[in-house]
Amino acid sequence: MSKTYKAYVYKGFERFWHWTQAFLIMFLALTGFEIHSSYSLFGFETAVDLHSKAAWAFIVLIVFAIFWHITTGEWKQYLPTTRNLKAQIEFYITGIFRNAPHPTKKTLISKLNPLQRLVYLGLKVFIIPVMVISGLLYLFFRYPQSGSIKSLAVENLEIIALIHTAGAFLLVAFLIVHLYLITTGHTITSNLKAMITGWEELEEDEPDTNEAKQ
Ligand code: HEM
Repeated sequence: MSKTYKAYVYKGFERFWHWTQAFLIMFLALTGFEIHSSYSLFGFETAVDLHSKAAWAFIVLIVFAIFWHITTGEWKQYLPTTRNLKAQIEFYITGIFRNAPHPTKKTLISKLNPLQRLVYLGLKVFIIPVMVISGLLYLFFRYPQSGSIKSLAVENLEIIALIHTAGAFLLVAFLIVHLYLITTGHTITSNLKAMITGWEELEEDEPDTNEAKQ
């Protein structure tokens, strides 16, 4: 059993961004699927109003998060790697159920395992931009604004609504898997505690292979 040490893994802004984003995505899903007519909760008009407000808050948060990732260099955490990717997938499918060791070690320079890197990068460069762009097009189709912005008004909603809804399903699927994976750290709550307090017990050992690769 290797020694552990306490490390400050998630900084203040990072935790604020993570939890605000989590709340906003869940709230956007909640109001969005009401707009989609999946259920009735706030009432359609209120749901639309809340969805638009949360969407603008989400866009502001994204702008700050992009700035933070660039200025701190933390964007490098998301550089994809295939090293240990197969081992990580095998760990989640079988290893985890027979108490096998985690195939990758978390370090400050490499906080994400290869699977997380790929999935989070996909979220950042594909799904979230798709949601924001289709959402804005939807917004300007439904509510063409006055003046120059009016020219953005979209002619046909169907394809935009389909893309926006498909993205929403993908995000909800991600959330469900993410909630399960939160419990798969060194203890059932260690990942959650780390994202709340910033501090986590990391294993002291020979340098991680991912880290060495960077
Ligand atoms: C910046 C991001 C977003 C913007 C600007 C945005 C905007 C919009 C707008 C304008 C509508 C249509 C409202 C109406 O019918 O009047 C809508 C619908 C919807 N949104 Fe979003 N949204 C965003 C993010 C999200 C996210 C993150 C989710 C889910 C996790 C989501 C889920 C939905 C769903 C399910 C619908 C109903 C689609 C339909 O049935 O046609 N949205 N969104």
